[in-house]
Amino acid sequence: MLTIVSSFEIEKKQVEMLVIPVCEDADIHSSALMPELVHQAKSLKEFSGADNEDIVFYAPSGVLAAQVMFIGLGKKDKIDGEVLRRACGRAIKKCIQKEISEALFVIPFIEFIHTGPDVILEAMVEGALLGNYQFDQFKKPKHPSLLKLAFAVPEDSVQHARLLSQKIIIICEGTLLAREWVITPSNLKRPEQFARSLVRMAEKENLKTEVLDHTALKKKKFGALLAVAAGSDANARMVILEHNPDNATQTLALVGKGVTFDSGGINLKPQGSLEDMKMDMAGAAAVAATMITAARLRMPIRLIGVLPLVENMPSGSATRPGDIVKSFSGKTIEINNTDAEGRLILADSLSYVIQTYQPDAVVDLATLTGACVVALGERIAGVFSLDDRMCETLIASGEKTFERCWKMPLPEDYKDLLKSEVADICNITGLKWGGAITAALFLSEFTENTRWMHIDIAGPAYVKKETAYCGVGGTGFGVRLLCDWLEKTASLSF
Ligand code: BES
Ligand code: ZN
Ligand code: ZN
Repeated sequence: MLTIVSSFEIEKKQVEMLVIPVCEDADIHSSALMPELVHQAKSLKEFSGADNEDIVFYAPSGVLAAQVMFIGLGKKDKIDGEVLRRACGRAIKKCIQKEISEALFVIPFIEFIHTGPDVILEAMVEGALLGNYQFDQFKKPKHPSLLKLAFAVPEDSVQHARLLSQKIIIICEGTLLAREWVITPSNLKRPEQFARSLVRMAEKENLKTEVLDHTALKKKKFGALLAVAAGSDANARMVILEHNPDNATQTLALVGKGVTFDSGGINLKPQGSLEDMKMDMAGAAAVAATMITAARLRMPIRLIGVLPLVENMPSGSATRPGDIVKSFSGKTIEINNTDAEGRLILADSLSYVIQTYQPDAVVDLATLTGACVVALGERIAGVFSLDDRMCETLIASGEKTFERCWKMPLPEDYKDLLKSEVADICNITGLKWGGAITAALFLSEFTENTRWMHIDIAGPAYVKKETAYCGVGGTGFGVRLLCDWLEKTASLSF
């Protein structure tokens, strides 16, 4: 489906669509043929090579391609991975509209772009692969996705590009897996069914799997998690995935919030806030997909993935505001708002994974608070940690993958706001402000002295409007970010 070819004699390649990136103020192609074609395109009034522009030529002379699409990248100095990713995503969407089934992308001449050769190929392949995905489980898309993608690179880098593209394909497939889980409606991913789907995919990659059902969760005293599941007639599940490579020197735990539908519970959400709450398991989807990707890539780091899966519903058996429960850690929690449920299932999961596996570090991913979306908008995740190095490396991975993260504070004195008169801790504060921070501080109470990082993905996990390389629904946010970060982390030591 994806091939790397040599850019030698591009003009002799018979393809339906040849895609040529064009820079506004520089020549970025080495092939002798390109300047001529690009010149022709640029001589038209409607195309200058500016970012967002494109133009299609039908059977231009000099090439055997049936059509040639020029895609504008803007000014040379402004080109980075994301510009290329978006341009390729847009090009693919245009091809889909035109019912093209195969496209050949010309990789621009590397030395003209400051980002370096790997970043260029990586970004272009990602934009094309991710942009080509359409969710078709319930309705045939208007136009089919492309069947074949090819990328033309200089003859002497074909081998390297082939190896690199194999890795990128695996990471993109992981991202699409997470997107697919998130876009699936809640009636088809209730905890038991979702658990089975996770386990089936994980077993294919030889991950070790374990599922704790309602009886096991009760026996082990997951009081906070069970309090969230109490209102639903679907029982909770906890899925544990393990990637155990022989050469690992450190263990990392990844925890993902898996609320398959968040109605708010007795603190029922209003209309307008309910419709997209099938996405409240995006943390679990990203963690599971990352584990599967790590296994496929044979990452040399031991990973434990913990996925607490629950449905948060109101009913006669639901937890009431004011109820007090005993968490797995033994700490008692006053649940004053049943809509602050993510932190309850994460609290038990964090305690469990720390106690059971003694990991070197724990990272959790969660669509945790609307307050984080208020603070950072819909495209940037909030990252909370007392470990500066972990934060910095994650933020750097966010810049590279454009799954951006912004460091948020964990002020010790705000912990006072979570004090309860009747229990060890309360699951909300009485205040309107700082909700992303106090949610993170709540979690910190269940991390003991383990290095820990919390990523609030409530904003970027889901899009209501399509973007250059993502359709409406789950974005798969976290998979590319964590894969890049894990690759770096595996080579460092804690
Ligand atoms: N799942 C929501 C957070 C959320 C909001 C995710 C918007 C994605 C988009 C979470 O469980 C929640 O309801 N949080 C409450 C907490 C409040 C009751 C303290 C919130 O953010 O309003
Ligand atoms: Zn909620
Ligand atoms: Zn939630």
